[in-house]
Amino acid sequence: MAMLETLDTSSEFATDEVEASLPDPRTGYRAFALGAFKLSRDEYFVRIEWPAKGQTRSHLIPADAFLRATMRDVAWGFFYGWVNFDHVIGTRNHYGKVDLYAGTFNGVLREAGVDYCEQFETPNIMATFKAILRDWTNAGFDPFAAPEETGSAFGPKNGDNIEAIERVRIATKRMPGLPDDSPLRDHLPVNRQFADVVQDEPQIHAAEGFEGRLHAFNLFKYLSRSDVTWNPSVTSVCKASLFCPTTEEFILPVFHGNDRIEWFLQLSDEIIWDIGDKDDGSPRARITMRAGDICAMPADIRHQGYSTKRSMLLVWENATPNLPQRYESGELKPYPADF
Ligand code: PHB
Ligand code: FE
Repeated sequence: MAMLETLDTSSEFATDEVEASLPDPRTGYRAFALGAFKLSRDEYFVRIEWPAKGQTRSHLIPADAFLRATMRDVAWGFFYGWVNFDHVIGTRNHYGKVDLYAGTFNGVLREAGVDYCEQFETPNIMATFKAILRDWTNAGFDPFAAPEETGSAFGPKNGDNIEAIERVRIATKRMPGLPDDSPLRDHLPVNRQFADVVQDEPQIHAAEGFEGRLHAFNLFKYLSRSDVTWNPSVTSVCKASLFCPTTEEFILPVFHGNDRIEWFLQLSDEIIWDIGDKDDGSPRARITMRAGDICAMPADIRHQGYSTKRSMLLVWENATPNLPQRYESGELKPYPADF
């Protein structure tokens, strides 16, 4: 995950707050309540229900897409700003509290007054999302994996995949491979789509007096061995500057709404990005990024990426405190450069 302020998502905190039904006698899945929201799933779809204008409204999301989005939201500790699961449902991080909303950032639903938003303490919504992932992820389905590298999310309840949804998060302190820091991925296989990536490590020759103070590793090799997709991990930390490289295949399972500027450096292959307005989702731009391209994603947009061939992307995050307030107040412009 790409946050510096780390939330311990591995503990079972607030589990007693989770409101879950007994398993449905036909499908085997539990239903969950979170405030006035109700969430349930069947063989193909997740159904989210909420109250608006005196009626119950509902929205369906395919189960695989929902589990991929929820997995990212949980693993990233609700990330920076907005995590839109699709054009209707999403979360907004207030760093301590989290909004769950339906239609609030969809221009049409908002205009019709059928949107709904409720705020939760982070541990409560986290515990519910984790319980949903546990119950709704079947054996053989890995929400972090590319579709070609995982089994099916569909059908009636069939076992679970706890190992996949509780992967140990990589939280690099300075750089992988340093003593007491995250390991290089020598024990993981090279991904099928990165078979051509050179696996040599750089030689380190420190001048006298600098032994143990100079470090280098082969980032392309490191990324070629990533077993997850669309999961920027903090890989170098220099004050508030976080390099969060990631490997991408198929679709970013969320439309991320930025609360700060992010820079993208395309390290290999190609990603196409759809960019929309952060508040109502109306389309703004489409960008094709090829190896070597650099792009600044403004602070007032949402974006979703598509990568047919597994590719390598460096997401450069700015963890300076109070950035969301500085953009929202207008003190900072939403884009980093004037042309
Ligand atoms: C982003 O929202 O900036 C983002 C999220 C996940 C990725 C890449 C980019 O894998
Ligand atoms: Fe983003």
